[in-house]
Amino acid sequence: MIVQGEVRPPGDKSISHRALLLAALATGTSELTGLLPGGDVQSTARVLRQLGARISTVRPGARVSVKGKGLKLRKPRATLHCGNSGTTARLSLGVLAGQRFAARLTGDASLRSRPMRRVTEPLERMGARFEDPERSTLPIVIRGGELRPIDYASPVASAQLKSAVLLAGLVGGVPVTIREPYRSRDHTERLFAHLGLGIHERDGAILFAPANGNEVGPLALAIPADISSAAFLVAAAVLAERGELQVSNVGVNPTRTGFLAVLERMGAHVDRVNLHDEGGEPVADLLARPAPLRGTIVTPAEVPLLIDEVPVLAVLASRAAGETVFREVGELRVKESNRLELVASNLRAVGVQAEARGNDLHVRGTDRAPRGRVETAKDHRIAMAFAVLGTVPGAAVQLSERASVGISYPSFFRDLKRIGSGRGGRARHRD
Ligand code: S3P
Repeated sequence: MIVQGEVRPPGDKSISHRALLLAALATGTSELTGLLPGGDVQSTARVLRQLGARISTVRPGARVSVKGKGLKLRKPRATLHCGNSGTTARLSLGVLAGQRFAARLTGDASLRSRPMRRVTEPLERMGARFEDPERSTLPIVIRGGELRPIDYASPVASAQLKSAVLLAGLVGGVPVTIREPYRSRDHTERLFAHLGLGIHERDGAILFAPANGNEVGPLALAIPADISSAAFLVAAAVLAERGELQVSNVGVNPTRTGFLAVLERMGAHVDRVNLHDEGGEPVADLLARPAPLRGTIVTPAEVPLLIDEVPVLAVLASRAAGETVFREVGELRVKESNRLELVASNLRAVGVQAEARGNDLHVRGTDRAPRGRVETAKDHRIAMAFAVLGTVPGAAVQLSERASVGISYPSFFRDLKRIGSGRGGRARHRD
């Protein structure tokens, strides 16, 4: 198989959600380019429209304009449906905590099984009320109101939790201090700083204090490609026999590049060229080439920096010499699927030794061709990770479905085919 060409994956999912949210809370009209047109971002746009923001259609390549509602949103007439998107649900709860009305949030079956207490607990401490305070999953009815400042030591390294509390501080006009056990992605902090909202860091804690009348000005933002989507293409290039792939305009925020650091330890160096800055986020073109891989240990502090890349890293580990261990990846159990068990069982299904032991994931590499049926559980990242495994020579990997990629990377299969990696093996699917 030969990998070649240049590809630009769609916009960063995390930044897209945050850009839409802050634009909806702004006074004036924001212009956003490069927004991810995937299902999760459509969910955020839908919820924000219900709350009074005017958002033009989010289409591939579109310049999206958002007429903000200011910090005081409109009471929604119906339930806010967050689809498959944990980020939509958790960040919206933060925004709703400071509103003077009640709203009901729900989601699809996967989202309704994911933990929300981690967010409702600090929001409750700030003064938000919940119809059933003990409820840990959607649907949830939140009644916002006057909020109190909070100094919060988060028990999990979760950017969604951190962002929900920061957004509550912004909307409620109250100071917030947050500490996390390990650093999680900092896109919210960067956007706050970009907008001149009073945010800074001291001794590892993040501090927000309302400033400048606590008004959000309109945004003009170009969103870079998502490194979590780029990771699948980079992985396909690393597993190829020959060639070179350029993945262009990718966000390389250091809180998101754990994948590249681990890949380097495994023996694959990815060049970053044309480094520049877009709206306070570092951006680069990635150059990836085939490389023989060796196993490694992924440490707990690295996990938040590559949390969404564990499925594809596990797939790469299955082609590496020796064993790879991912330490303390228990958070994977509460993603769009139970990714910890699903990655292990799917690797076994295609002939790889893999096992979840406690909160660790162990994968032993092999050079036998992967063959078997993969259950995606409609989880986009499971589908894409195993589609990449299906590109190695002699592979016959059958996916239970592939429509789920629309959540974060609607053009994934087209792009994978285009870079040439579809030729070496087969990534078959059943619709
Ligand atoms: C995200 C944070 C992470 C990540 C998710 C997106 C975000 O979740 O897995 O895909 O945009 O804040 P957690 O905050 O639950 O770790």
